[in-house]
Amino acid sequence: MKHLPVLWKEAIEGLRIHPDGVYVDCTLGGGGHAGKILECLSPEGRLIGFDCDPEAIRRVAERLAPFGSQLTPVLGNFREVRSRVAALGIKSVDGILMDLGVSTFQLATPERGFSFLYDAPLDMRMNQEAPIPTAYDLVNHGEWEELKEILIRFGEEKRWRPIVKAICRVRKNRPIQSTKELADLVEEALP
Ligand SMILES: C[S@@+](CC[C@H](N)C(=O)[O-])C[C@H]1O[C@@H](n2cnc3c(N)ncnc32)[C@H](O)[C@@H]1O
Repeated sequence: MKHLPVLWKEAIEGLRIHPDGVYVDCTLGGGGHAGKILECLSPEGRLIGFDCDPEAIRRVAERLAPFGSQLTPVLGNFREVRSRVAALGIKSVDGILMDLGVSTFQLATPERGFSFLYDAPLDMRMNQEAPIPTAYDLVNHGEWEELKEILIRFGEEKRWRPIVKAICRVRKNRPIQSTKELADLVEEALP
């Protein structure tokens, strides 16, 4: 898949890259920004790239393999950036980039369950190899308060009440299995 990194020129300008510097990309995704940063570095420069999605780490490591040891991909949450970078023996960095959200690849892969443009199992885990709850678990077993919190805090959804009500009503009779089922249910709840 061809991926165009968002505002890449502005991002690179904003980082004011020193060719010998050390940079961190907290959200490698498809490696678009990472590739642009690496092109600006000398053989002494280094980029540490985080992503919590093992699939993203594998693809970027392969795609940017020609940069060799200039790139260090790290599988993990960027909230651990300080300790993980320190563990690599790096005392300070010259710039940090964060391109928050989901990647084009995650959205365009139906079985990841991020998009209602495809009918796929409700998953939505950033790391499908981790034993963490899926969207299926939350939608079918989450408490009223938990669903409310998710919709208000992460969805910024003011009309959370009819959605939570519809989820609780439907799941009493059958599990809500797919992205389309959930999308249809939301559409019905919010005419
Ligand atoms: C918008 S994409 C980044 C695209 C990237 N800049 C590019 O040019 O291809 C966001 C990426 O951040 C990752 N991500 C989201 N939250 C994260 C977190 N807390 N820690 C690490 N990675 C995260 C996602 O897995 C996704 O791959």
